[in-house]
Amino acid sequence: MLVPATQMLQKAVEGRYAVGQFNINNLEWTRSILATAQDCNSPVILGVSEGAGKYMTGFKTVAAMVSAMVEEMGITVPVALHLDHGSYEGCYQCIKAGFSSIMFDGSHLPIEENIAKTKELVQVSHAMGLSIEAEVGSIGGEEDGVVGAGEIADPAECKKIADLGVDFLAAGIGNIHGKYPENWAGLNFEALAKTKALVGPLPLVLHGGTGIPEDMIKTAISLGVAKINVNTECQLYFQAATRKYIEAGKDLQGKGFDPRKLLAPGAEAIKKIVREKMKLFGSIDKA
Ligand code: 13P
Repeated sequence: MLVPATQMLQKAVEGRYAVGQFNINNLEWTRSILATAQDCNSPVILGVSEGAGKYMTGFKTVAAMVSAMVEEMGITVPVALHLDHGSYEGCYQCIKAGFSSIMFDGSHLPIEENIAKTKELVQVSHAMGLSIEAEVGSIGGEEDGVVGAGEIADPAECKKIADLGVDFLAAGIGNIHGKYPENWAGLNFEALAKTKALVGPLPLVLHGGTGIPEDMIKTAISLGVAKINVNTECQLYFQAATRKYIEAGKDLQGKGFDPRKLLAPGAEAIKKIVREKMKLFGSIDKA
């Protein structure tokens, strides 16, 4: 069964660890992440961008696939299926499709419009039993077509959005989607601490989890980050393992061309990086 992410994240705040959101692209991705979460006895959030939803033919397909996999794989750890950087329309589509959690990303809108739309979606998602994430400031770089300038969130605006009853909040603190550039200034812990002081026990979300040094991840968790999103790193691991398989000519040997063999090294590589992240975030044995 899919669950909203509220309870697992409140527990993470109390226990001072973070739950990973790992974005999915297809069946292999989903299976690898679910199997690792079960093996690690860790709660997990499966993130789906609007682009990935379209790629998989639509949110209904995604919800049906994930729900069925959780059942058929005998997954007993808490699993949330979460829309990542959702538009207003995308949020409604996911609520209807059977997701257990949504993110409304109104960070590019004027703050008053972000507040009005978030407020409406909080009411609707809670009435339907889903959890909801909102965003203030913006995450730099590009995530599946969603481009952000990377502004640091204004703590007072974070407080306004938090007061609407969102279950967790993404506040931009200099984090970037994709690989970090050489000259990256690092996370702004001062802004994070100010926001935390204003929003209290509300779980905070760190997007752009790929490539953030371990000490920064640990400091962020100590300052109230309870959900960390990882996407690019799983893609890079999948790509490197697939390249190795093909460069070794394994696809040319026997039935090495069988997609179940061709995609297996990538799928195993995803398991490896997800396990490493769960260990770093501290969510192992927290199911
Ligand atoms: P990365 O692709 O940098 O890991 O970021 C993922 C993310 O924040 C998804 O919302």
